[in-house]
Amino acid sequence: GNNIYMIAKNIEIKYEPNISEGLVEYINSTDPYIFKLVNKQNPVDNTFPEDKDSLLEIPAQYRKKDTIYLYKTALYPLQAMMDAMFSNDIDDVFVTSAYRRYDKQKQLFDGYVEKLMNKGMSYDKAYAEVLKDTALPGQSEHQTGLCIDFMTLSMDELDNTFKDTKAFKWLKDNAWKYGFVLRYPEDKVSITGYSYESWHYRFVGLEVASIMYQTGLC
Ligand code: DAL
Ligand code: ZN
Repeated sequence: GNNIYMIAKNIEIKYEPNISEGLVEYINSTDPYIFKLVNKQNPVDNTFPEDKDSLLEIPAQYRKKDTIYLYKTALYPLQAMMDAMFSNDIDDVFVTSAYRRYDKQKQLFDGYVEKLMNKGMSYDKAYAEVLKDTALPGQSEHQTGLCIDFMTLSMDELDNTFKDTKAFKWLKDNAWKYGFVLRYPEDKVSITGYSYESWHYRFVGLEVASIMYQTGLC
């Protein structure tokens, strides 16, 4: 049946009936890895994360394309969150990206720069433009395997049309209950250093997610 859990002393969570106490233990994980911060000020090298065996495949029903990996601690919470969306009539949402290797991030970054240069932009201009919404290799949270980019079937590409979807509206109110936070909010660009990304969610566990949700921290 429905379970209600008290978190941070003043907030109640009512989960979907499909959530068991065992699952809540995953959502409320104490694995220190879930707090790993990777950003411009806190880069990692190309060997990170050391424990590659903890990167697990996201099952096929949650994605559209080839294999996508996620760090193990975030996997059950992600599945529970997406199952809850599916059972709330949001069945067009899928994961388009999660863990990205250092080399893959480099490929992405360089590819975007090249694309702009092919349109006539100088290297410096293109580099600065790409840096607004793409991390340099070693500075991407995707290298942790703790974050997800979502899309829906109605979208042609990964962009902020996601914010007009039912999936986004549901995530806005409910992602924190599964330990996920919107990582690059619209009003926090000066702090995060990245443009608004309505599609990018990061696992930090229930306790931290509930505090961030209540206080508006990013
Ligand atoms: N788009 C985010 C900032 C990344 O490249 O990690
Ligand atoms: Zn992302």
